[in-house]
Amino acid sequence: TQTYRITLLPGDGIGPEIMAVAVEVLEVVAKQEGLNFEFTTALIGGAAIEATGEPLPAETLDACRQSDGVLLAAIGGYQWDNLPRHLRPETGLLGLRAGLGLFANLRPAAILPQLIDASTLKREVVEGVDIMVVRELTGGVYFGEPKGIFTTETGEKRGVNTMAYTESEIDRIAKVGFETAQKRTKKLCSVDKANVLEVSQLWRDRVTAMANDYPDVELTHMYVDNAAMQLVRAPKQFDTIVTSNLFGDILSDAAAMLTGSIGMLPSASLGATGLGVFEPVHGSAPDIAGQDKANPLAQVLSTAMLLRYGLHQPHAADRIESAVLKVLDLGYRTGDIMSADMTAVGCREMGRVLIEALA
Ligand code: NAD
Ligand code: IPM
Ligand code: MN
Repeated sequence: TQTYRITLLPGDGIGPEIMAVAVEVLEVVAKQEGLNFEFTTALIGGAAIEATGEPLPAETLDACRQSDGVLLAAIGGYQWDNLPRHLRPETGLLGLRAGLGLFANLRPAAILPQLIDASTLKREVVEGVDIMVVRELTGGVYFGEPKGIFTTETGEKRGVNTMAYTESEIDRIAKVGFETAQKRTKKLCSVDKANVLEVSQLWRDRVTAMANDYPDVELTHMYVDNAAMQLVRAPKQFDTIVTSNLFGDILSDAAAMLTGSIGMLPSASLGATGLGVFEPVHGSAPDIAGQDKANPLAQVLSTAMLLRYGLHQPHAADRIESAVLKVLDLGYRTGDIMSADMTAVGCREMGRVLIEALA
């Protein structure tokens, strides 16, 4: 049997709760598909700060590098919000992405027919929505230099971040955007702020130039402010969106609400090596942590993405995605996707019915 080494990073808040469900699901699918998973659990975020004093211990990065795939839940929490920046949970997550060279983050937002009523938007607006946000993940304003809080000549403090992209950084994410669009409906929308920002002007120039290599893809450009508006006005106009780190972060949370809940949205963070980190779009949800209220489906669907994009086991991924559809068909709902006449379940119970659905 094929053996895969998987690093599990449960992190903080609801992270351990949703990870437990994902691992149970993976174990059942492994048996069904004749696969063998060797799990290593490692520390990241607040959990790592508590245990080691730093949000991304070297052992964690090593464990990830030695594995065939990484499953991450979420990091962060109020108790760490006032630590110096280099000691914050979020810095650990950014270090993981940078350390593994994960420059491309695929964030699919497809509305499931079962959840149309869970969206805050009208049925006719969201029915049939199927968007893929390709978010640049290791550059832009998240990583540009200089950054910091400096003191000016007048003694005033000045906070600085720098939004910067090199041509090669733009080209490699644009390529992912075009290739993703090619496998879908061949419509690519590049989102930027080229009317104001030089960095976006370069972005637009490079993406436009690359379009020559993909004559079958229809490329459009949109300013990010308009894109935010169009996503809630008429989301069906979008297929694949390619955009920078910060814009992708914001737009993918907006796209999440088309599908009913951010608790449904998985993602894949990929680089040049083939090793990927698979993580929900949402965070550690400290407001509901420890209460068995979290929706584990974004984590479970991230596990399906691990199987599909990371381990090239599409059949195993299909099994998980079918089980998710089945439990929704049966009417099981966590609080975030609850609607009339459905059966309310907690995180653990959702895990249990998923296992039943897999059988
Ligand atoms: P969040 O995504 O954690 O939560 C936003 C809202 O969505 C909350 O009301 C939360 O209860 C709800 N929610 C999120 N996931 C859910 C789920 N699976 N089921 C049900 N409801 C869910 O964002 P936030 O509140 O802005 O941030 C909380 C912490 O998480 C912060 O420390 C932030 O930095 C961190 N964060 C981490 C990641 C990550 O690990 N990738 C992503 C985003 C935010
Ligand atoms: C996400 C999160 C992270 C980001 C934070 C926690 C660093 O919001 O994964 O979307 O901004 O990328
Ligand atoms: Mn985010």
